[in-house]
Amino acid sequence: MSRKDEYYNRAKQEDYRARSAYKLKQLDADSGLFGPGNTVVDLGSAPGGWLQVAAEEVGKTGTVIGVDRQRIKPIQNETVECLRGDLTEPQTIEQIEATVGGSTVDVVLSDMAPNMTGEYNVDHARSIYLARQAFTVADALLCAGGDFVAKVFDGRDLDAFLSDIEDEFQYLRQMRPSASRDSSSELYIIGKHRITAPVSEDDIVDVVITDIGSQGDGVAKIDDYTVFVEGATQGDSIRVRITDVKPDFAFATAVDSDGEAKDTRSSGWSSMSTTHPTSLTA
Ligand SMILES: C[S@@+](CC[C@H](N)C(=O)[O-])C[C@H]1O[C@@H](n2cnc3c(N)ncnc32)[C@H](O)[C@@H]1O
Repeated sequence: MSRKDEYYNRAKQEDYRARSAYKLKQLDADSGLFGPGNTVVDLGSAPGGWLQVAAEEVGKTGTVIGVDRQRIKPIQNETVECLRGDLTEPQTIEQIEATVGGSTVDVVLSDMAPNMTGEYNVDHARSIYLARQAFTVADALLCAGGDFVAKVFDGRDLDAFLSDIEDEFQYLRQMRPSASRDSSSELYIIGKHRITAPVSEDDIVDVVITDIGSQGDGVAKIDDYTVFVEGATQGDSIRVRITDVKPDFAFATAVDSDGEAKDTRSSGWSSMSTTHPTSLTA
């Protein structure tokens, strides 16, 4: 039996609307996308195989919003809400935002595929365009630490798209689930742990140490974002270089007024220089 028939038959037996349900199961097994109570937005969701899988994974306390330009036959599950709209039109994105209702979502998925022309470069470019539309939705709605998945067809515009995703997420993965057809050039891009930090690696900022963390590092706040500074003492006003950026916090080391690394063991932090390199002063 071919792989196509295998997943087609399994979908029939296990009551999934599409064999693609197994692709999402494989993506989730590989990348740990869902948790109980999550809010998930699924773009290009007709006939609804991914909606079924996502609803199982988030459970009764979760929410799954499916969007497609085609009608999605209602799913008998209170967790799932379906919208009809074209993701290339701004009003569809507004409709999704209104449905989410001002909060953020944990996962944005896109299995959108263009109408195929058979012209490889055209189909590839259109798939990247749709994935970028999905990325716009993710940018508007994903929480810090949230995950993004989008289907694309491999080709020349892929690297530029990957580089844009890499800037926004802590990890980037590409996966070809075995449930995809052997002949298909489709692959799934997974951005794990959205970063919404107000700083980037190597930024130099002036901060005030307001607390000491459980590991003994100084704690500074930039808006609500936490920066841990090794060896700093409560009350210090210091200049630091950001060394590692995570979705919810960053690590930094003290530097002198020229931005050179400072020995944190020496006593007496110099007070903040009068010339501030950025306005990111906590
Ligand atoms: C491969 S199917 C999705 C299958 C789905 N993940 C499932 O498991 O049932 C791709 C879907 O993308 C939708 N799509 C393509 N372009 C779209 C667009 N511009 N806006 C909304 N949906 C779109 C198509 O209508 C189609 O239903």
